[in-house]
Amino acid sequence: MPKDAVVRWKGPNFCAVQAEPAPGLRNELKDMPAQATATAPSNREGAGLRSGVLIEARDLRKSYKAGASAINVLSGVNLRIEAGELIAVIGASGAGKSTLLHLLAALDMPTSGTVYFEQKAIESFRESELADYRNRSIGFVWQRHHLLADFSAAENVAMPLLMRGAGHSEALKTSARWLREVGLEARATQRAGELSGGEQQRVAIARALVQEPALLLADEPTGDLDERNAIAVFELMQRLHREHRLTSILATHNTVLAERADRVLRLEHGLLLPVGDRPKP
Ligand SMILES: Nc1ncnc2c1ncn2[C@@H]1O[C@H](COP(=O)(O)OP(=O)(O)OP(=O)(O)O)[C@@H](O)[C@H]1O
Ligand SMILES: [Mg+2]
Repeated sequence: MPKDAVVRWKGPNFCAVQAEPAPGLRNELKDMPAQATATAPSNREGAGLRSGVLIEARDLRKSYKAGASAINVLSGVNLRIEAGELIAVIGASGAGKSTLLHLLAALDMPTSGTVYFEQKAIESFRESELADYRNRSIGFVWQRHHLLADFSAAENVAMPLLMRGAGHSEALKTSARWLREVGLEARATQRAGELSGGEQQRVAIARALVQEPALLLADEPTGDLDERNAIAVFELMQRLHREHRLTSILATHNTVLAERADRVLRLEHGLLLPVGDRPKP
């Protein structure tokens, strides 16, 4: 990545990079201390205090145009997730797992149907509420971490805080705390591109949680890892889920890991069903 790359914010915890001089952000980043190891107390405000249904989807449908016809990916998904639950969503490749997570995160809009967050329809959110929802209420872990390879682990984790205007030292203190949570405090100054796949995914998890979201959405977080690292990353997410009283939805192909979730739901033929149930023909 060019040294003067622009970091462009594209939704929850996701940075896209383009090769243009960055007017504001690059200046902010150049003053970052090389090492960030200070601790800061957690200031969670309620992610773990919520109770009842946190997120719900009613009759969610999503189709994509394919030439003259349409592909119906989701054909009436209903979902009700209580605060504190750890849910695994399984399904064959192309079943619509990523599509569903993107709709829940408001990264994409359904063709019809509604997502409710804390009983409020997200389609009714004003632009600023929607941005807040994407960036503050949701932590998103992508299959391919999308870290900024030329930035340090600490900078990557601090990025969501800096993007919302937090001061450097505060952002780096919080980043250091989250790197410690994922067992990577010793890698704080290392370039993300030099980390192993498992370490990169840990940094991505820290980045997803740095804003203390209520809901963690993870799209195949272990899909690119070998078995040992996949188990380690899954167990890390389980621990963080428990200790930070998160609500988590993990899309995965790994049915063995999925069974460790509180509930397993399968996407099949555009419907989401508890594992065991089959869609009616
Ligand atoms: N933007 C798009 N335009 C057209 N079709 C799309 C688009 N996004 C997804 N699709 C199609 O929707 C279907 C579901 O895709 P999705 O990525 O949600 O599946 P998935 O279950 O996440 O698969 P995988 O396990 O391979 O990640 C696929 O057939 C895909 O080609
Ligand atoms: Mg997918």
